[in-house]
Amino acid sequence: MVCASLIGQYHNCVHCRNQLIKINLHSVIEWSIIIIKDSKGYRQVKQIVTTYIQDGIAVVCVNNPPVNATSTALRQGLLDAVTACENMSAKVVILYCEGPTFIAGGDMTEFNAPPAPPDLPDVIQAIEDSVVPWIAAMHGTVLGGGFEIAMGCAYRVALTNTRFGLPEVNVGLIPGAGGTQRLPRLIGTNAAIDLTTSGRMIMANDLYDLGGLDMVSDAAKALEAAKAFYTSRPDRPTAINLRKCDALSESAIKDLKTQITLKSKGQQSPLHCLEATLMATQMPFKLGQPKERALHLALRNSAESRALRYVFFVERAVSKPAILGQSKPRDIAQVAVVGGGLMGAGIAFSCLQAGLNVSLLEQDKDTADKGFDRVCSLIDGAVKRAKITRENADKLLKNLQFGTDYNLAENADIAIEAVFEDLEVKKAVFQQLADMMRPDAILATNTSYIDPVEIMQGISNPSRCIGLHFFSPAHIMKLLEIVRLPATDPEVIATGFALAKRLRKVAVLSGVCDGFIGNRILAAYRREADYLLMDGAKPGDIDAAMRAFGMPMGPYELQDLTGLQIAWANRKRQAATRPPEERYVKVADMLCEAGRLGQRSGAGWYRYDENSRTPIPDQYVTDLIRSLGAGQQSFSQDGIINLILAAIINEGGRIIEEGIAERAIDVDMVMVNGYGFPRWRGGPMHYATEIGLEQVRADMAQVALQSPNSWVVSDMLK
Ligand code: NAI
Repeated sequence: MVCASLIGQYHNCVHCRNQLIKINLHSVIEWSIIIIKDSKGYRQVKQIVTTYIQDGIAVVCVNNPPVNATSTALRQGLLDAVTACENMSAKVVILYCEGPTFIAGGDMTEFNAPPAPPDLPDVIQAIEDSVVPWIAAMHGTVLGGGFEIAMGCAYRVALTNTRFGLPEVNVGLIPGAGGTQRLPRLIGTNAAIDLTTSGRMIMANDLYDLGGLDMVSDAAKALEAAKAFYTSRPDRPTAINLRKCDALSESAIKDLKTQITLKSKGQQSPLHCLEATLMATQMPFKLGQPKERALHLALRNSAESRALRYVFFVERAVSKPAILGQSKPRDIAQVAVVGGGLMGAGIAFSCLQAGLNVSLLEQDKDTADKGFDRVCSLIDGAVKRAKITRENADKLLKNLQFGTDYNLAENADIAIEAVFEDLEVKKAVFQQLADMMRPDAILATNTSYIDPVEIMQGISNPSRCIGLHFFSPAHIMKLLEIVRLPATDPEVIATGFALAKRLRKVAVLSGVCDGFIGNRILAAYRREADYLLMDGAKPGDIDAAMRAFGMPMGPYELQDLTGLQIAWANRKRQAATRPPEERYVKVADMLCEAGRLGQRSGAGWYRYDENSRTPIPDQYVTDLIRSLGAGQQSFSQDGIINLILAAIINEGGRIIEEGIAERAIDVDMVMVNGYGFPRWRGGPMHYATEIGLEQVRADMAQVALQSPNSWVVSDMLK
């Protein structure tokens, strides 16, 4: 394809000033392959944006793997292409992308620095203003800046399975290149508000129905579809920036604000997206777009966006702990799940959904049938909620065996135990599994609190033993703690991470300690809340404060919801090793002794009317706390938040210092994905860096002073 005669023409690149050789392909006018001559000699680089013309149709091809993100080079390439296509007197320009997707968003690594020119809004404006009409030819996921670029084009054509979205809200931002100003002008105000404030994706056919696309095609390639569209295209429509969109009534805006505020639990970006989208109904584009841009840039520096961008990156990094080195995961095709109760059934369903064969083992025929029924009802629930089709559900069931005979586990690559939380019962299960399974088959326990080293004592080949701590409901909760025993082979840990990925979970590596990472921090959280209670705060004050911080629920409402009995059993278990000088709050024990085990028993920290889950403050609890000699100190909402957060951060610090967690990101991802810590706060350790360690240090000193002999202060806060 290369015209050899052209090789050897030197040009200076205006961007990098390296010496270039220009090589043209047949019919290609702009450069497509560039040879750079620098200090290391000659190197071939592929252009991010290539433009060529054939029969008057200019094709602008973007090739910026992996997802064609709108980097500086890509923006510059597109801007150059606008001029090039006009200079070539093209009749039309088709913009399409190589690889698995059209432009799928911005390059978030660029968000930490001031934006480098050319700005995306200017690039899009140049496309929209070009005398040559542009057609966006789309496939894959058209997100953020990609969707905004498509809205600058005169026409939009997409393959059927293309998805569209403005997900900036998920990283604490609003769209910054006209997205909130063009989308309502394209598909209507209400539909645009839905997409900008939720960040959700929409399928091509739905966008077409809203008027957002000119054609949806079943062609093999988006470029082909766009060429076909061009032959029968309608007249060039009015540019979106010149269109009008409907204003909403005052009461509709008020309702939207209330709904969004309730749903976003303290996160501000959905409200900013609402505000920006409404601007399109209140002012012309040329005023609204700069305002949108200014807000977008300001939000890049907000604590909320920093936290959400941090979570975006570390959620990927957390699955690569240093201990894995180059270890490769083993293949997993068959899983034995022992125990078909609440957790076992959820784990089995999750594995089935991931395409694995599952054998569910129970203690007797009756419990085996019940376990099978539990899995069936989870599958039926998924069918009812249209998560899977009936046909798929039947396929899943074919991959499930159940019974009491350990022969069922004989060919399994891994066994996950989820029987009663009882050391002897668990030990017996693992002995039977070890006798039946291959000597290298992985043995995993889902225990929450029992030391897995004790559970696995005496098992042959202990390097295959591991903890896989799922969270309830196991088929829904994102978090999986992978518990490394001293003897666990890194390959077995790598297999745990690979399994988590198949189950679409965020896995975090933890060492062995009481409660692992998450429940250990939860215990510190509850302990400080109880101390505040005994110093004068009310359960309702503490719950309200933690909700104001962004938790979905406060600690007492949550205990009532999940039941007080598991924590009660734990406190009894820990009694023997609890330092006698540690401050101990007996309220929860006394509630349990009085049969107040939470919502299911009609009362716990609160009382509940029949058939209602609304917690009602109860004089009984106030009197009980007072009878134990509670103080009269008054705490502000911020005071409660600061002290509880200090206790949480302190415990996180100790967990890292003890080597239970490798990194701060491990602690953060456990709390965000398993314990409702607000994502937009980034996790406790990230939050500590945001508010500053000096502040946390001072708060922790107060925590320790209020409850002497009760806290080990982490080195980080000393
Ligand atoms: P569960 O009581 O609902 O289920 C336990 C199941 O194990 C029962 O169906 C029982 O028949 C079966 N079983 C008991 N002994 C057996 C044996 N020898 N062989 C085969 N099956 C046997 O309990 P749940 O809540 O499912 O908990 C199971 C495990 O998961 C416990 O270790 C618990 O600590 C852990 N876990 C529980 C969480 C929760 O929120 N419930 C969260 C994370 C872990």
